[in-house]
This record gives sequence, structure tokens and C-alpha cells, in this order.
Amino acid sequence: MIESFRRFKILIAAYILSVSYVSVWAQHVRMWVPSETGDYYYQLKENNVRLQASDLYSAERPSLNDAIVQFNGGCTGEIISPRGLVLTNHHCGYGAIAAHSTLEHNYVEDGFWAQSQAEELPNPGMYVTFVRKIIDVTGEVLQGVTPDMDARQRQSVTDRNINRLKKTLPHEAWQDISIKPFFYGNKYYAFVEENYRDIRLVGAPPSSIGKFGADTDNWMWPRHSGDFSLFRIYADKNNRPAEYSPDNVPYRPDRYLKVSTEGVHEGDMIIVYGFPGRTQEYLPSFRVAQITGKINPVRIGIRRHALDVLDKFMRRNDTLKLKYTSTYARIANYWKKWKGENMGIRRSGAIAEKKHWEEEVLRREAETGGHEVADILQELKAAYDSLEAPELARNVFIEAGYVDNPWMQYALDMYRFERQVQRRPEKFDELKSDFYEQMKNKWAKSDARVNRALFLAMWQDLNRYMPEKYKPSSWEIPANKSSHDKVSDNWQHAVFTDSLRLKKALEGGAENFLNVLKNDSAYKMARGLIDSFYNDISPDYARWQNKTVELMRSYQSHMMKLFPGFRWAPDANGTLRVTFGEVRGYEPRDGVYYEPFSTLDGVIEKYIPGDYEFDLPEKLLDIYKHKDFGKYAVNGTVPVNFLGTAHTTGGNSGSPALNAKGELVGLNFDRVWEGTMSDLYYDPSICRNIMVDIRYVLFIMDKLGDASRLVHEILQN
Ligand code: ARG
Ligand code: GLU
Repeated sequence: MIESFRRFKILIAAYILSVSYVSVWAQHVRMWVPSETGDYYYQLKENNVRLQASDLYSAERPSLNDAIVQFNGGCTGEIISPRGLVLTNHHCGYGAIAAHSTLEHNYVEDGFWAQSQAEELPNPGMYVTFVRKIIDVTGEVLQGVTPDMDARQRQSVTDRNINRLKKTLPHEAWQDISIKPFFYGNKYYAFVEENYRDIRLVGAPPSSIGKFGADTDNWMWPRHSGDFSLFRIYADKNNRPAEYSPDNVPYRPDRYLKVSTEGVHEGDMIIVYGFPGRTQEYLPSFRVAQITGKINPVRIGIRRHALDVLDKFMRRNDTLKLKYTSTYARIANYWKKWKGENMGIRRSGAIAEKKHWEEEVLRREAETGGHEVADILQELKAAYDSLEAPELARNVFIEAGYVDNPWMQYALDMYRFERQVQRRPEKFDELKSDFYEQMKNKWAKSDARVNRALFLAMWQDLNRYMPEKYKPSSWEIPANKSSHDKVSDNWQHAVFTDSLRLKKALEGGAENFLNVLKNDSAYKMARGLIDSFYNDISPDYARWQNKTVELMRSYQSHMMKLFPGFRWAPDANGTLRVTFGEVRGYEPRDGVYYEPFSTLDGVIEKYIPGDYEFDLPEKLLDIYKHKDFGKYAVNGTVPVNFLGTAHTTGGNSGSPALNAKGELVGLNFDRVWEGTMSDLYYDPSICRNIMVDIRYVLFIMDKLGDASRLVHEILQN
């Protein structure tokens, strides 16, 4: 009796303490699972939201989740009309826009606006995913798991439970079930999903609007980009998902977003609803130090090297610039993100903060009579130490041996093709023409001189950064220059880089082809690296990675039990989340304050005629000169972008920003540089998400584009 009273008192004290600590910590992670209404009510009340939790998500009736889709697996989109119109980012629709572009119809350059349903363009392979229902299945998934099980036993039990649940959870024939771990496997949720596969391109602004500022402005504020594009979902006659068919009709949504042209003010509440990809907020201090001190510098160094190579060619030659612009942008995007991340971790004192938190956890545990966390942290430290070499090796391979090295990409294509042929030599004739076409297309979009220069740079980096243990001996740079040159000559005329050689190699039968491969010295060298990746690096990486997940699971579980008053939001894992924030500027450095709004005046200020990043369409300059802003004018200009404190990450691109009434006021597309460390440590003082003001979207469509049909559809007038 007395014992339990004492425990009760400790619990109360713990609760009060955790609430006071919440003033720092609760704000860090705030990507909420939409079905966890308990968490909302607190947030909603605080922010005077005029929505019920059940407006945001309900399994019973149409709610806002029915208006949000994961867009093509990686971005977010939202339904903004009763006829299935989807708004997302320009950079999310870019692949489709580029695929439909030709020299006569250059939609990337000039933009595209379908004038009728018949002109909307299908995109094979593209899909969007709705989440209809979210179910906590923790109990079911963990059924049969016992504390004495090792990781493999646990895995086999949870896998079995998950497979069973996928069959037994009630769902319709056209729905799918996906089940994902949260909090490193302390919780599991099931998602009842619908995938629509007939998605047509409806509209896009010219790139000079959609990518205005390109790499220079990327991850930066002040920003002036119209990063949006429009698609439409098509369904079968019963409004169900269907493969593309000319007979399909525009999808009729259960719920779509009402667009508000009232705008936002500083301090206004915003709700960002979408599919954040990955965050790791609960890592211990030493892991954050390892990522920023050991892993990021290598990734940054390799990407910088590749960007310098590309830059030299692109500056000298316009054709090369065109060919490599999107490769450059892709490599530069995360190069810049990791640099910002390292800077932000340092500036925010994140590592010291996390240490402080670990001490807090240990102290709390001691108070409640526990004694396990110190050991877990120690084991975790040892596991991350063991992970370091294979993780570095894996990153060096991915960067220098893949992402920044086109010749290695072709070698990997060849490797996959070789395996297909080995498995089914009788299919050789069928397989080979597809493969040949695929390679020819890739080669046509690239340039041998650039690829060779990248190869040489990445070869250096492989030698420089690859941990000794994982270095394939064939990649050693020969001391003598002529054998070094001979190697790159061999690569330039390898069976996977030279279309004549490939064509010839494919002419004989399967056996002949496999023989040619065996004797290609460049391919042998490439295989050495690929084999070391699959046979040595990956298994070591997986082993220690799994160990860290297992230990993080128990660290996370202890933290959650020790701080029961804390509202724990799980790390992003690609599932639907809602996050609350407000419109707010920030201080990027001492003495400087950034306003949270940008306008068309700033777009014009940045204008550089003929520049690939800052050029503008003539027509926009005209509109500006005549102040022809129509109903989109605010204080003699047009609002363009704004900042908020919503906690977002990659995957939130294209997410709607809603006001307190649940109406669409903005379109999320980026974060500010000083705050990109929010994937590891969310600091409310400098982490900001960047949105396009919905009025800029409408202004561009209405005044610059030829899209009054769509503006009417959206505003329903
Ligand atoms: N930084 C934004 C996001 O991850 C936009 C990326 C597209 N823009 C670019 N210039 N690469 O990812
Ligand atoms: N641009 C990112 C994306 O493509 C979103 C910005 C971010 O990472 O916050 O998802």
C-alpha cells in the first residue's frame, strides 16, 4: 500500500517534470499520426483551430485525409476540385513535364495548359495513393514476441503477424494494406490505401517560374519560386482505381480542399498535411556527432568534386549544360542540404542539447529505480562504432560508385542484365532489344567526355574515402600514368559505354554475350566494386544497422516510459502525417531578421535576362510593368512565397498548407538552409518550411498561363 502510494507520487512528480521539460522537447518532433486525436486536441486547443480532430481524419466519414495523396511514391499532392484535380510541386511533376516535351512543344521551357479534358496527358507508371483508414495494430503485430527473443526470432514472428494481418484486416478488393513500424518497432500502424494509376498532366508553368532561382536559391530564403504543377486523377466508371484507358473519367473525390484567397498573416496558424519521408529525431548525441562529423563530410566532399567537374563542362558548352542540368540539380540538392545540416547542428548546439537530454533520462531512470539505459547507451555507442566503416563504405559506393558516376550506373545496368541472361538464357533474344534501346537512350542524353571526367574524379574519391577493408584491389590507381590512361580508355570503349560494342556483343547468342562480358576489362573492374558492395559492404552494414535499430527500439521505449507526460510523435517514415505551425520569420544570424513573406517585386529584383536560373518570361515583365495583377493584387504587388514553423522534410514537397479553417492557403516545397538539420534536431527558432502562396499559383495560371478553364474549376465560379 505504502509502496504503491510512493510509486504514485513518483509518477506524478515525473509527470510534472516531464511537462516542464516539454517546453523544450515537445516542440522538437511534431509529425503526428492523423488518427492520434489525443495528441491533436492539445495542439488544436492551443492554436485556436476551428476544426475538430475528426475533420482532419476520420475512418467513418469523408475528412481531410481523403483530399491528400502521396504523389508517385515520393511527394505529396492534394485534390483541389470536385473533378479530381491534383496540385503538387513543379519539381515533383518535372519528370512527366519533361517526358512530354519535344522541340516543337517544349513544356519545360514554355509551360503547358490543357485546354480541355482531351488535352490532358497520360503518364504511364505514375500513381497516387490515398490513405482511407489508419489502424493501430501494435498488439497484433507483437503477438508472440517475448523479451528473450533475439532480433531474428522477433523479426520472423512480426513478419508472420504482418502477413496474416494484411489478409485478415477488412478492406475492399481495390484497396491495399500496408503496415509500418513506428518508434523503431515499439508501435505498428496499418494503412488502408487506394492507388490510382491513371494520372494525367493538366498544367505546369514555364521552368523560369516553376524553378525560378534553381540551385542558387534552393534551400534558401528569401525565395521567389512558383514551384507548382497540376495533374488529374482518372478513375473507372465506378470511380475506382483503374489502369489508363481512354474510357476513364475524372475521379470524383469524397473530399477536396477549398482554396482560400484570403491569404495569411504573421502568427497565423498553418497545418501541413502530407507524407514526410525520414527523420531521426531521437538519436543519441554520439550518433548525431558521427553523422555530422564522419558521414556527411564524405558525402559532401564527393558531391562537391562531381559538381566541380560538371560545372567546368557546363560553363564552356551550352549543349552540355542542357544535357547535365537536371543531373547537376539532383547532385547539388543534397550536397547543399548536408552542408546546411552540419552548419545547423553546430549552430543550434544540438549535440550538447542531446547530451543534456541523455543525462536527464538517466537521472529520471535512477529516480524510478531503473538501471538499464546506461547499458543500452553504451551498447548503442559500440554498435554505431562498428557500423561506421561499413556505413562509410556504403556511402562511398553509393556516391562515387553510382550517383555521381554515370559509367558505373551503366555498369550496374549491365550487371542486372547479365543476371537476367544467366537466369534465363533462352529469353536472350527477347530481352536484348529492350536492353539495347534502354542503354542507347541513356547514352544519347549524356556525353563521353563528361562521363570520363566524372569517372576519373570518382575513381580518385573511391581510393581516397573507401575504408581499406572494403577497397577492391582492382580500383587502386596505378602509379604509372600510361596504365592509368589505358584503364580509362578501356572504360570509354567498354561493352556498357559504347553502343557499337554493345550491338556487336548482342549479335551472337547468350553464351557469346556472357563471354564478351567476362573478357571486358572495364566490366571486370566494375564487377569488382559491385561484388564488394553486395558481398562485403552490404552484409556488414545490414548486420550493424539492424543492431542499432534493435537498441534504439529499447532506448526509445525507455524514454517513452520515463516521460509519460511527453507527447511523443514518431519519426517520419513515409506515412501520412499532420503538423501544426504558424507563419513566422526568423533570424538567420545575429543582427539579421527575415520577414516571412516575399512578393513579385522580389521576383523582378532577381531577374537576370538570359540566365538559366533567374531569367523570366517576357509576358511576366509586361504584366509587372502594367501592374496587371487583377484580383491577386495585395498592397500593389502579388504575394509569392511565405515561411512557417511546420515540421517538414523530404516527401512533404507538394503538401498543402491549410489555415485554421482547413482551407488551402499554400503549397509546401522547401525548407530554409539554416534549419535543414531538422531531420536530426528540430529547433523552433530557426527551422522553417517554405510555401508558395496559393494566390501566386492562381495569378500565374490566370494572368501568365492560359488556364482560365482551370482557375474556374478551382474557384468554382
Ligand atoms: N530543396 C527542395 C527539396 O528537396 C527542392 C528540390 C528541387 N530543386 C532543385 N533546385 N534541385 O528537396
Ligand atoms: N523539396 C523537398 C522534397 O522534394 C521538400 C523540402 C524538404 O526537404 O523540406 O520533398
